[in-house]
Amino acid sequence: MILVTGATGLIGSHLTAHLLMQGKDVLVLKRSVSNTQNIEEALSFYTPDYKKEFGRLRFAEGDITDIFSITDSLENVEQVYHCAGLVSFEENRLKELLQVNAEGTANMVNACLEAGVKHFCHVSSIATMPNHDKKAIIDESVFWKSSPENGAYAISKYNGEREVWRAGEEGLTISIVNPSVVLGAGCWGQSSSRIIEECYKGTRFYTSGITGFVDVRDVVKCMYGLVEKNISGKRFVVSSANKSFKEIFDAFHTAFGNKLPGVEAGKWMLKTGAMLERMFMTHPRITKSTIDAGLNKNYFSSDQIQKALNHAFIPIEQTIQYVAEKYKDHRAAKQ
Ligand SMILES: NC(=O)c1ccc[n+]([C@@H]2O[C@H](COP(=O)([O-])OP(=O)(O)OC[C@H]3O[C@@H](n4cnc5c(N)ncnc54)[C@H](OP(=O)(O)O)[C@@H]3O)[C@@H](O)[C@H]2O)c1
Repeated sequence: MILVTGATGLIGSHLTAHLLMQGKDVLVLKRSVSNTQNIEEALSFYTPDYKKEFGRLRFAEGDITDIFSITDSLENVEQVYHCAGLVSFEENRLKELLQVNAEGTANMVNACLEAGVKHFCHVSSIATMPNHDKKAIIDESVFWKSSPENGAYAISKYNGEREVWRAGEEGLTISIVNPSVVLGAGCWGQSSSRIIEECYKGTRFYTSGITGFVDVRDVVKCMYGLVEKNISGKRFVVSSANKSFKEIFDAFHTAFGNKLPGVEAGKWMLKTGAMLERMFMTHPRITKSTIDAGLNKNYFSSDQIQKALNHAFIPIEQTIQYVAEKYKDHRAAKQ
């Protein structure tokens, strides 16, 4: 039996769909509040028989921040894919971020050690590889360094990843993926899929920063490959292409038939926007972390995972076309 956490999220829903398509038996750890429609929708992108496949899923209720609620679900589980996490770039949510991304991960690996799980695959992030040394290319050789520059999300993901390494030292077979910005269909309006909604509505602004982008289908194939080949004790950058936010925004705007964003938002404009959002919004979108990400130019290399799994990434232009089409279908179905 395979257990997936975070199966109602962007990465977890596609991973669950991928596992079901491989004929696997999957148990989903979900909270009482989780929306399982996200899994059904993700499955619908893989097969017309999605309702039947969805019917094969088993569910266990639990919250990763409460270890007692997850231990029972691990009975007869051999492999765990840990996709649950809190994605937020609000600096004032550090406590909550640490609780879910660090303590939640510690709970998961401790429970897996206890239950004798055979392979634990963890979703970390490129956020754990801050480019303080201004390297031309960021890969697995870039390690965490303490710095006032590190944002709350990055700190929480680093602490989570550290728990996984610790469990590895204590005997758990582990593998870690560090995806860049994930683009995929479904889970509209949550996590990184917010970019798609913003572009559909149309924005006048863009930023000049460059970062890695990856198709969610590549992320889940890489995770599956690592577990099936039992490649352990390593972490892998999972990123398809390095693109500017302008290039990504332009491609989505074009796919939606919108006018391209024409105003470059510089540091001061973003800082002013951040201040106004802090004043008027409960969950501001412009924060220190998003300003840094929007302006910095970071280039990632996925050579290591490509070699380990002989994996070829989907071109990001193709991803954008596909995701935009699925988003248009989603909007049409809502009308
Ligand atoms: N999206 C990206 O660009 C990206 C890039 C790199 C790494 N990552 C990492 O990948 C992981 C998944 O991200 P995502 O984009 O799929 O996020 P998402 O769409 O926001 O999904 C998050 C998932 O985590 C679950 N979750 C949150 N708190 C939980 C808790 N206390 N107990 C149990 N489950 C909980 C959510 O369940 P509910 O449905 O109950 O809320 C949901 O299923 C995160 O660790 C994130 O840091 C994401």
